[in-house]
Amino acid sequence: MRDLSTSYLGLPLRTPLIVGSCGLTNTVESIQSFAENGAGAVVLKSLFEEQIAAEFAHNLDQYQADYPEAFDYIRGYTRTSALDEYLDLIAAAKNAVDIPIIASINCLSAKEWMAFAASVQKAGAAAIELNISFLPSDPNLTCAAIEKQYFDIVHQVSDLISIPVALKMSPYAPALANLISRLSWTGKVAGFVLFNRHYRPDIALEQMQVTQADMFSTAGDMIEPLRWIALLSARIERDFAASTGVHDGSGLIKQILAGAAAVQVVSTLYKNGAGQLTRMLKELESWMNERGYERLADFRGALSHRPVGNPAAFERIQFMKQFGGMA
Ligand SMILES: Cc1cc2nc3c(=O)[nH]c(=O)nc-3n(C[C@H](O)[C@H](O)[C@H](O)COP(=O)(O)O)c2cc1C
Repeated sequence: MRDLSTSYLGLPLRTPLIVGSCGLTNTVESIQSFAENGAGAVVLKSLFEEQIAAEFAHNLDQYQADYPEAFDYIRGYTRTSALDEYLDLIAAAKNAVDIPIIASINCLSAKEWMAFAASVQKAGAAAIELNISFLPSDPNLTCAAIEKQYFDIVHQVSDLISIPVALKMSPYAPALANLISRLSWTGKVAGFVLFNRHYRPDIALEQMQVTQADMFSTAGDMIEPLRWIALLSARIERDFAASTGVHDGSGLIKQILAGAAAVQVVSTLYKNGAGQLTRMLKELESWMNERGYERLADFRGALSHRPVGNPAAFERIQFMKQFGGMA
């Protein structure tokens, strides 16, 4: 038996595999099944800022108390609301399993939804993952304006809660390395999840219609998180969790070699069921056995940007060598 434990956001995890935010973490039964199959933690499906704001607005005339207590006040008469169900799920899951339950909020602004973050903490969430996703498609939206939203959210939410905050980053975030670095200097972000996978459009040629592209990732998609975790984990003293395209044990091992403290999986669980966690952890363990590694720390980050001795390995973005001779 190898030691697969890790530390993520200051939380001790028994394994580095986290079930990422998605509909699969919506019930206590499925969370129990993930825990039985070796998950180190689960991230609940996101509540959306708009959802929270809509329920607050619905009760606006009675929303008089100052937050953070305001949500508890509202809670008294919105017993069946989605927010209430979310808090009940946190509390029930916390009772049912001995792994951390991480709440998730999909947000774009520092507005009244933040009162809800305090309730999430009260309900027993071990940490909160904020999914801040701007698609910078508006030509008038500047990098400075986008960055300000990140900082406003981080500063204000951390004034309301004491549990660790993780930021799930968009691959479209401006000047990614610099932004993550400056966010880490605030001292208010315990870790970064790279990356969120957005809804993706496609075009159906037969119907001449815009459709939804496959919502599940493929194993090849893990390369971008791999590159960025390798580039940043050795230079920024925060925990990094890989998310997107990790489908099997080899993907898990590669992300840890790049420097990930934890690895989130979603698509592979939709495709292969909760047992995939056990299979991935077995692969990790037998790989560690073959190489004589006792614990994750023995090889975590061994192939990140710094130790690899060839920074260009992760920084190269042109295919010069491969395509140079092609007609
Ligand atoms: C059906 C489905 C629902 C998802 N719901 C959420 C969500 O509520 N919040 C969130 O932050 N990410 C959500 N995601 C994104 C996943 O957490 C994850 O970042 C993404 O699927 C990439 O990981 P994967 O390659 O392991 O699937 C969802 C993904 C899928 C496939």
